[in-house]
Amino acid sequence: MTKVSPIDRRKSEHIRINLEEDVRSALTNGLERYHFLHEALPELDLATIDTSLNLFGKRLAAPILLSSMTGGTEDASVINRRLAEAAQEVGVAMGVGSQRAAIEHPELAKTFSITREVAPSILLFANLGAVQLNYGYGIEHCRRAVDMIQADALILHLNPLQEAVQAGGNTNFANLASKIEEICKKLEVPVIVKEVGWGISERTARLLVECGVAAIDVAGAGGTSWSQVEMHRAPDEFTRHLAAAFIGWGIPTAESILMVKQAAPGMTIFASGGLRDGIDLAKSIALGATLGGMAGPFLKAAVASTETVIETLLLTKKQLEVTMFACGAANLSSLQAGKLVKQN
Ligand SMILES: Cc1cc2nc3c(=O)[nH]c(=O)nc-3n(C[C@H](O)[C@H](O)[C@H](O)COP(=O)(O)O)c2cc1C
Repeated sequence: MTKVSPIDRRKSEHIRINLEEDVRSALTNGLERYHFLHEALPELDLATIDTSLNLFGKRLAAPILLSSMTGGTEDASVINRRLAEAAQEVGVAMGVGSQRAAIEHPELAKTFSITREVAPSILLFANLGAVQLNYGYGIEHCRRAVDMIQADALILHLNPLQEAVQAGGNTNFANLASKIEEICKKLEVPVIVKEVGWGISERTARLLVECGVAAIDVAGAGGTSWSQVEMHRAPDEFTRHLAAAFIGWGIPTAESILMVKQAAPGMTIFASGGLRDGIDLAKSIALGATLGGMAGPFLKAAVASTETVIETLLLTKKQLEVTMFACGAANLSSLQAGKLVKQN
């Protein structure tokens, strides 16, 4: 039997808590403050609405990302396989969860590499915590994560608050930007940086531009709250109260997209954090994002079956198509050209 390491145990707890507890942020994603101007005469045929795009050398049928979630345990392997099968079937992008467990226990690599086995042609992202660069990780670890799943790009996640509200978290985030910059310079594939649910500010976006990142995933507030997840796994009352205080923390996704667009013109932006349907996805794209990611909803779908993930993806894609149709946008660049109205 595979031995259970502390990282495996943490990963199993993360999945269980996300499935069984209410881990929603007290904030909304901010997209509800925008709406599309309805066009009664769109002069378009719904059948010809084009949601496809090219990104990092791959063709996608729709601008959807199954956001970074899991790996490292047997249950996680099943979830990763189902997500990847669905991504391959529908033609969308996928990220695996942090690969640290498999870097430290190579026998766990298959729980991540299963994704590439079943999804040979998808846009696939590797994942590591950026803070690990302050705890002994370097370019070789990043290369191992990429090679493990034959990834098209590496995502480094930023989660200072999550580390700070848990017992024994890795909280040394000092001088991390220069280390991210070094990885961007040396790694053979593009480097994407994401948050995990509290958003990217203008200041952080400017730092990331200087690092040379290829894309920023805002992973803003309004969806899964990692302080709430940590609250549910707190070992004592002190830590529980510490985490609970941050339920309303973070930059809502809509605001973060605009902040990154302002601070980093021309940067490829991914929107995630509380996106829950194809209309949220369309609004994110109209605000400036290239892809929209969802994590929590697809975790629940993947626990059911591959077919449930496919159905959820097809529904999201259809909602996007109908939104584009009803606001007169034939393709994604036309949607980005701005059909949104902000409510006061
Ligand atoms: C079960 C679960 C595990 C996650 N693990 C990771 C991870 O390992 N690395 C990472 O970058 N983000 C991770 N995330 C964060 C998501 O990628 C995403 O940024 C965040 O959950 C916000 O999206 P949502 O509101 O659609 O869930 C995880 C999310 C969930 C629900």
